[in-house]
Amino acid sequence: HIVPVILSGGSGTRLWPVSKPERPKQLLPLTADETMLQLTAVRTQGFGAASIGRPILVSNAAHADIIDEQLQQINIGDYSVILEPIGRNTAPAIALAALEAQPSDALLVMPSDHVIDDLPAFHDAITRALPLVAQGWLITFGIEPEGPETGYGYIQMGQACGDQVNKVVRFVEKPDVADAERMLTEGDHAWNAGIFLFRADAYLAALKRHQPGMMAAVRASMEQAKRDGPRIFPDATAFHSCPSDSVDYAIMERETQVACVPVAMGWSDVGSWDSLHAVSNRCTDENAVRGDALLLGARNCLVHSDGPRVTLVDVDDLIVVVSQGEIMILKRGESQKVRKVTEALKALA
Ligand code: GDD
Ligand code: MG
Repeated sequence: HIVPVILSGGSGTRLWPVSKPERPKQLLPLTADETMLQLTAVRTQGFGAASIGRPILVSNAAHADIIDEQLQQINIGDYSVILEPIGRNTAPAIALAALEAQPSDALLVMPSDHVIDDLPAFHDAITRALPLVAQGWLITFGIEPEGPETGYGYIQMGQACGDQVNKVVRFVEKPDVADAERMLTEGDHAWNAGIFLFRADAYLAALKRHQPGMMAAVRASMEQAKRDGPRIFPDATAFHSCPSDSVDYAIMERETQVACVPVAMGWSDVGSWDSLHAVSNRCTDENAVRGDALLLGARNCLVHSDGPRVTLVDVDDLIVVVSQGEIMILKRGESQKVRKVTEALKALA
């Protein structure tokens, strides 16, 4: 029995000014007509090999209404949504879902803000992982690296332990550039897709081993949770006392029974304007004429506007974003710096 667990707590600050705290990246239609959350929610439909249970969403309480609205638009049927009073990062968020699920459920943990183009490849990778999941392994999904990205986790793959599944030798979350370059050269590393598959009880056992304080706080918050239809409100006092950490640092770097399924599935973490540039259909033509953009000899430019038309003449490698009264012009390749913009704005406020 596979239970999709959809994480929707991030704020997506690197896609400012389109993504803002009240409407973060996953709740926006960035790459298609559907929002990224909606695309994630339908991603397990049509998966034939095992039965798919009712999805569990874990989200910021402030987004409860918007999430209901978006899920009702796509008719995914019943779901539960755990509404966090405050963000404590992904390790506690997954623990909330693991306590809500049955111990033997296989949790398919998915970020709500990624692109996956090749669904059959994704489903096939899940199928290959299931025998190991049943034995208590924690499964990660590995993407062939395209460069020395420092915003990802890296998985060093060792010997085979299943059908195109490899034992993880080492898991390195967010390395510095030198380490990332070294791992690329060594060649046996994959990027961590941020998607995980494990039995609920296996995850909770690992949490108890490595993060007993987190485990106790999350358990207390769920024991005293309030319920209202599909909505579950963990107890705020207990959850506030929970330490904050990501599943990658808190669990994956420390566990030993971890395996990786390498998969080519057209994956992208649309984490920055540069990565959106790479998957967007709004940037290809150097002489494009569209409602929001007029490009004349503008090579490798991305225009994203919610109103005014942007005209670019004979410029290269620019990302131009017009949203909610803000204009941002950015050199392609530098979009990680948008974090600095949101920090500077916080200081202004
Ligand atoms: N419910 C909830 N609560 N969700 C959260 C929280 C939280 O407190 N914090 C983050 N999330 C959600 C985000 O919305 C996102 O969908 C997912 O969890 C992952 O969090 P990110 O903050 O985006 O993680 P990351 O991008 O820095 O790193 C992770 O993803 C990379 C791939 O995109 C790691 O798993 C890396 O190893 C991985 O390479
Ligand atoms: Mg991310």
